Amino acid sequence: YPLKNYNTFGISVFAKEFVSVHTTQELAEVLKENQSKKLFILGGGSNMLLTQDINALVIHVDLKGKEVVWQDNETVHVKAMAGENWHEFVQHCIEHNFGGLENLSLIPGNVGTTPIQNIGAYGTEIKDTMISCEAMDIATQQLITFTKEDCEFGYRESIFKGKLKDKYIITSVTFGLTKTNHTVNTSYGDIAAELTRKGVTLPPTIKEVSDAVTAIRQSKLPDPKELGNSGSFFKNPIITIQDFERVYILHPQMPHYTLDDTYVKVPAGWLIEQCGFKGKRFGDAGVHAKQALVLVNYGNATGQELLDLSKNIQKTVRDTFGIAIEAEVNII
Ligand code: EPU
Repeated sequence: YPLKNYNTFGISVFAKEFVSVHTTQELAEVLKENQSKKLFILGGGSNMLLTQDINALVIHVDLKGKEVVWQDNETVHVKAMAGENWHEFVQHCIEHNFGGLENLSLIPGNVGTTPIQNIGAYGTEIKDTMISCEAMDIATQQLITFTKEDCEFGYRESIFKGKLKDKYIITSVTFGLTKTNHTVNTSYGDIAAELTRKGVTLPPTIKEVSDAVTAIRQSKLPDPKELGNSGSFFKNPIITIQDFERVYILHPQMPHYTLDDTYVKVPAGWLIEQCGFKGKRFGDAGVHAKQALVLVNYGNATGQELLDLSKNIQKTVRDTFGIAIEAEVNII
């Protein structure tokens, strides 16, 4: 079964077997009937690099629906099923004047994958508004509720990437959003500049923030429909202040964010650009010309070619700066 249209990198690999499930009951049945098989859970396919055929039963989680599950005068809890497209869900919330997700506009992928790596952009992460998520235990088909605390969120990390990896399938996520007195966050990066450029009166509405984030992302990040990619391929490395100072003394122009007394975060995009990779193309595998953190597939790159490129980048960054950068996408 061809998977080219099921991964945003647009890699052409095949699955041994494939099934789409549309309800949690269907999901439970498929899991029950196939207990002895190797399974591969597929959501929006936006955070994976497929380097070979999948010798397993691929379960495409296509659960749809979104509803208000609770509200008072100020706050609303909105539950979205795992297979809802993330950006469409964000737009839906903004149309209903529910605030809190606007900075996360235009992130590719589905709702169900957002907690796995605690997606984030422009100073906001999923953990800032998430109340809970529901997930099905693959072994018992029981639906379990995980509170935000249960998820053990960190920078692009959660329990679902850690000790519960491959044990649960997220079926829905519930967010707590504002109905009035929205607290917009425009402090990060170019948001304020974009609002000024558009002549927006301050404070901006959540729609204006969403539009600004969308415009900034469109200017830097390739649309997977036009150019295969998986967003940031690498995580921004977090290094100790001692390590940072060793590099900074040689490269005082290096951007950085001090996290606490011990750690500093350095943008991987900058390190990669300094190594000369930005805009470089090797066959059909390349580094995006406007954001060096993003690897792209110009058409027929194989997963292995993109993986080789990523390793070449990691090695060059390590040799040049002594800093290890780690992939953010799952390499399959
Ligand atoms: N930079 C460069 N060259 C580049 C890219 C970036 O010098 O090619 C420098 C920028 O000038 C800036 C700094 O690096 O000083 C940070 O760049 P930017 O604000 O674009 O963000 P980022 O750290 O590269 C992170 C997320 C993105 C998210 C943006 C905006 C990670 C791994 N990536 O990128 O997330 O959209 O911040 O908040 O944390 C994603 O995860 O798929 C993703 C796109």
